[in-house]
Amino acid sequence: MTERHGRGDRGRVPLSFRRDAVRWESQRSTWRQARPAAIAAGLKRAVSRPSGNWYVVGASADIRSDRPAGRTVAGTEVVLWRDAGGEVRAGSGVCPHLGAALKDGVVRCGTLICRWHGLALDGSPFAGWEPWPVHDDGVLVWVRLDRVGGEEPTARPVVPPRPPGGAAIAAVYTGVGGCEPEDVVANRLDPWHGAWLHPYSFVDLEVLSAPADD
Ligand code: FES
Repeated sequence: MTERHGRGDRGRVPLSFRRDAVRWESQRSTWRQARPAAIAAGLKRAVSRPSGNWYVVGASADIRSDRPAGRTVAGTEVVLWRDAGGEVRAGSGVCPHLGAALKDGVVRCGTLICRWHGLALDGSPFAGWEPWPVHDDGVLVWVRLDRVGGEEPTARPVVPPRPPGGAAIAAVYTGVGGCEPEDVVANRLDPWHGAWLHPYSFVDLEVLSAPADD
């Protein structure tokens, strides 16, 4: 059975309901495969790869041309918006005049205007404010924070090719909190917990192969 979303074929969602899903308590346990040594080795490999100082700051769809978005990465405030051409602009979220939060400003015709005294930023260096490198991969928006990362900067984040838009769906969850990035990465490197902890997302998830511990 397929579900329709909206009207006509253009709104068709390429998903099907599962009628034969294994009951949660009847699925095969995965605790023997989810070995701490395998996850730790995966984490070690992951963090040894260069980041180029790029950080994800949100979903592409959440960066708008009618209002700014604000994010804080490792204590660095970032403001983002889309200019008149639809390109994402980013830089310090602190107004260079008296320090107002630029995320509380407004965007008019692609220009970000500080709410306190009207300092206007079109994305170019101005009054001490500098733009930061930003990349929109179509799903996620990345900002390069060289002082935070401290690694050799790269021109672009290392992102695998995205599937064509018509053949894929994307969902981005944005949560604000304090966390250890290594914990987040280690969580992703434990795919064996998916069907147990997130059965609403991963039904019958089976890990077919995993790298050796070394
Ligand atoms: S604090 Fe932004 S214009 Fe004064």
